[in-house]
Amino acid sequence: MQLKDKVAIVTGGGTGIGEAVVRRYLDEGARVAVVDIKRQAELESVYADAEKDRLHLIQADVTQRESIDAIVSSTVARFGRVDILFNNAAVFDMRPLLDESWEIFERIFAVNVKGMFFLMQRVARQMVEQGGGGKIVNMASQAGRRGEALASHYCASKAAVISYTQSAALALAPHRINVNGIAPGVIDTPMWKEVDALFARYENRPVGEKKRLVGEAVPLGRMGRPGDLTGAAVFLASSEADYITAQTLNVDGGNWMS
Ligand SMILES: NC(=O)c1ccc[n+]([C@@H]2O[C@H](COP(=O)([O-])OP(=O)(O)OC[C@H]3O[C@@H](n4cnc5c(N)ncnc54)[C@H](O)[C@@H]3O)[C@@H](O)[C@H]2O)c1
Repeated sequence: MQLKDKVAIVTGGGTGIGEAVVRRYLDEGARVAVVDIKRQAELESVYADAEKDRLHLIQADVTQRESIDAIVSSTVARFGRVDILFNNAAVFDMRPLLDESWEIFERIFAVNVKGMFFLMQRVARQMVEQGGGGKIVNMASQAGRRGEALASHYCASKAAVISYTQSAALALAPHRINVNGIAPGVIDTPMWKEVDALFARYENRPVGEKKRLVGEAVPLGRMGRPGDLTGAAVFLASSEADYITAQTLNVDGGNWMS
């Protein structure tokens, strides 16, 4: 058990990659606060089968200033401290660049950048106060490595995640807080259902075609599954990664090389 007795906060833990990471962190012995904007009843039904004494479900919107504080205080009230942040909540949207809108920009940046940064800052303050270091893992994307004509705001938001990861790693190194990112490629989650529907609309394709094509284009020959991310999520949150910071690790079947 690589995370025995550690306390983790996982945002966007209501489905997809976040849910897979919550379940794996529990298997590795951690106590986990799951944060999601989904209704509390929905979160409870997702985790109906999970052991309750090491699980804390928090219905919260990471774009709200008061939620940021509430997420950390409620985790500390329940488990006494925070050792790990898996900063994963995000939204996707896209439009041709000439039609990109103010509203899409604000929604994407509110969740993917503002929520990501201010929760990271609040958790880091808690870790500094506790002493003893900590691990922060921010979810970036291959989209943060290269722009895309149809998804400029999303790509820019994920490039910001990579940059904030670097800045935070340098700022927090004296406190022995490691800050790293993970850049997934194409992963079969509810988000990709939305992505596929949007590509169908803007590239005039049948529903399902884009998803099939991106899977076939992966060097390892298939789309990723949420479980493909959990090894990296555990490793970067564990003491095995004590000498790794400021990095964003590609977990994408070979799509991007850096
Ligand atoms: N699926 C992919 O192909 C892919 C690729 C690269 C990067 N990523 C990144 O991985 C992470 C997880 O992606 P996923 O595919 O599992 O996404 P998903 O859409 O399937 O799940 C995201 C979860 O975040 C929650 N959420 C959304 N807005 C929130 C908010 N304001 N406050 C709290 N919770 C909120 C949603 O309710 C949902 O449960 C994201 O950061 C995403 O950008 C995904």
